[in-house]
Amino acid sequence: GFLWWKTWRPKSFPPGPLAFPLVGNLLQMDFSGPLQGMKKLSEVYGPVYSMYLGSQPTVIVRGFKALKEILVVKGTEFADRPQNRLTRTVSHLKGLVVAPYGKTWKEHRRFTLSTLRNFGLGRKSMEEKIAEESAYLIQDFKKNKDTLFDPHCVINNAVSNIICSIVFGRRYDYDDSTFQDILHLVNENMKMTMGIWGQLYNAFGFIHYLPLPHQKILKNIDTVYGFLQRIVEEHKKTRTPGEPRDYIDCYLEELDKSALQGEEDNNNKKTFDNQNLSTCVADLFIAGTETTSATMEWSLLYMMAFPEVQEKCRKEIDKIRGDRTRLDYEDRVSMPYTQAVLQEVLRMASIVPLGIPHTNLKEEQLNGYTIPKGTIIITDLSSLNYDETYWKYPHEFNPENFLTEDGELRRVEPFLPFSAGPRVCLGENLARMETFLFFTGLLTHFEFHWPDPASPPDLTPVYALSQTPKHFKMRLVPRINDK
Ligand code: HEM
Repeated sequence: GFLWWKTWRPKSFPPGPLAFPLVGNLLQMDFSGPLQGMKKLSEVYGPVYSMYLGSQPTVIVRGFKALKEILVVKGTEFADRPQNRLTRTVSHLKGLVVAPYGKTWKEHRRFTLSTLRNFGLGRKSMEEKIAEESAYLIQDFKKNKDTLFDPHCVINNAVSNIICSIVFGRRYDYDDSTFQDILHLVNENMKMTMGIWGQLYNAFGFIHYLPLPHQKILKNIDTVYGFLQRIVEEHKKTRTPGEPRDYIDCYLEELDKSALQGEEDNNNKKTFDNQNLSTCVADLFIAGTETTSATMEWSLLYMMAFPEVQEKCRKEIDKIRGDRTRLDYEDRVSMPYTQAVLQEVLRMASIVPLGIPHTNLKEEQLNGYTIPKGTIIITDLSSLNYDETYWKYPHEFNPENFLTEDGELRRVEPFLPFSAGPRVCLGENLARMETFLFFTGLLTHFEFHWPDPASPPDLTPVYALSQTPKHFKMRLVPRINDK
């Protein structure tokens, strides 16, 4: 038996821990926090090593050299996404996030990027939308000035409203309980799909019909997708062709064009269809909410843990703002310290620690190993964040990690919170604009204090596809007396 296990890993395949038949290394993994274990394994097996998720060969890639190789140098060769039961159930091989590399994904990525860019030009710009939402958020925070409060739900809601206004042209009040429920389900699924039940469901299809916890994942998906699908149907009824109000309307214009194109032009036929529309809407809604609102929560938590950093940020904000009511996104160029703080939050919290799995379209060489076609590639982006060779203060929160001696913003090449290459995060600019405007808006109006001097903030992340802090309560002191 032992020999058979050994030969299971082909000779030129990256090394890794002994895998058991059927379950592979699944039962050896700590799903509540696998990052530490993954680091330990790389100390034994090197920056490119392998594991078996069930019987699926999986290669873990760590460190800048190997990550750059698969994300950028061989970016296209490794730009496909592995498919499993969950991705098929959720996305039907369509949309943006888990769509296979090819014509459909390319057309939708291009369409989405240009729609995000153009939307707002002429009408209300993206920046104005964020500023408007930021004002709502500040109003709501003010209501809590006399209590200790948990900002999770309002931040989540405010951040989600930005993507909602781009994609379906509306925002939701923070006390809209239907919308809060939807956000809660998305949240829950982010944690569960990465957990043991999500992985077992992927490895063993037969559990589909058993009354086990993965059923909850599937039920949540149904509810969230149902909610979004109703919005799409509503748009079909209320739109005026030629006058798109939002992303969904723009997409429906594309569907009109494809319909006009007819049957004869099959080669040039675009890939726009109703299923792609639904998946894109869901992808943007989910990807655009969780990550960015986690970043916002982390930024407040870190500011309470490091009040002197908070104070330095506020000084810079006040200085650049002058007597204007708020900052513009453009102001960031003269605010190296605040930018360094937001970068440092992304580093310490490793928001999307393992990126999103990639796979290769055909056999490839990597670090002297042969990677067979269709191997799952896990990009451990978090491995860059605490590497002693890149950072002055690898293990402590210190904005100086991103500043030069002269206090200028320092570009750190081996830092990839949004990944890199053809699959790089499509929302990076939006996320950076949102976090900058929300963060500076909040610090303009409040001081944030950690309420419990006896026990400092817990900065250990809750592991998930996107890592959040544990729920916390904070005390805020209003600074400016607005009319
Ligand atoms: C993909 C990070 C915000 C939309 C990704 C990936 C990462 C990431 C690491 C995986 C890239 C890869 O596969 O190599 C983040 C972080 C964010 C953030 C840290 C916030 C701080 C957003 C926002 C949107 C968004 C606001 C919405 C517009 C997407 C999409 C993909 C993606 C659609 C899939 C791209 C593709 O497969 O082609 N993101 N993201 N993200 N992100 Fe973000």
